[in-house]
Amino acid sequence: MSGRTKGLPEHVGIIMDGNGRWARRRALPRTFGHQEGVKALKRAVRYAAQRGISILTVYAFSTENWNRPREEVEFLLGLIHRTFLQEIEELREEGVRVVLVGDRTNLSPDIQGIWRRAEELTAANRRLILNVAFNYGGRAELTQAARELARQVARGEITPDEITEERLASQLYTWPSPDPDLIIRTGGERRLSNFLLWQAAYSELYVTDVLWPDFGEREFEQALQDYLRRERRFGRVSTKEQK
Ligand code: IPE
Ligand code: IPE
Ligand code: MG
Repeated sequence: MSGRTKGLPEHVGIIMDGNGRWARRRALPRTFGHQEGVKALKRAVRYAAQRGISILTVYAFSTENWNRPREEVEFLLGLIHRTFLQEIEELREEGVRVVLVGDRTNLSPDIQGIWRRAEELTAANRRLILNVAFNYGGRAELTQAARELARQVARGEITPDEITEERLASQLYTWPSPDPDLIIRTGGERRLSNFLLWQAAYSELYVTDVLWPDFGEREFEQALQDYLRRERRFGRVSTKEQK
């Protein structure tokens, strides 16, 4: 076990982007990039635990990724679920708790079963929470939260005025994880692509041109060191200006 250095983020989100380009640069099919991406994910999980980060939320498959060619979607789904089937024992032994954050309602019973098993097997773990954003979209997440709160109002359990930020947050897939302190995006695009729209309100953003399969411990540490130099003001005046 190793503790978290003072000031390091408690919760890190990662938009794991650039697998396709990594493969294309090597004149390989995009699927090779996804396979290499799994190795990078394993490294990141290990390093996050080693650095004492409590929660890692990784963007594995978005609600928009269903619009990719059918073969790529099928490959990705197969790869993601094979990976969790293969790795779950090791994750359990390493103290990692796996949680699916995404819409599970429209997944096939097989796929739902894999996630349920992964969650149950690792439920008691405390070293690192690994939130896997799969079939995740920030807008879908907020829409289902609104629907659930509307149902509660219709049943007379709460009044509209009782819909507070906390109550809305409690309906998000990531509940009860605190908001991410740092969001890393590999592959160089400067956008959120529907990742953690609500939760990212005050997250520090770190974009690197490094493609996801090339993201290793050194790159992760660089992001953490960059974060340590940030001043998080949350709308306040800089502490350096307060006399
Ligand atoms: C990220 O890599 C993996 C997923 C979106 C599942 P991409 O497949 O988006 O790779 P690029 O962005 O095309 O290089
Ligand atoms: C974001 O990457 C989704 C994941 C990493 C799972 P995309 O490659 O899908 O995002 P866009 O299309 O560049 O915005
Ligand atoms: Mg991409």
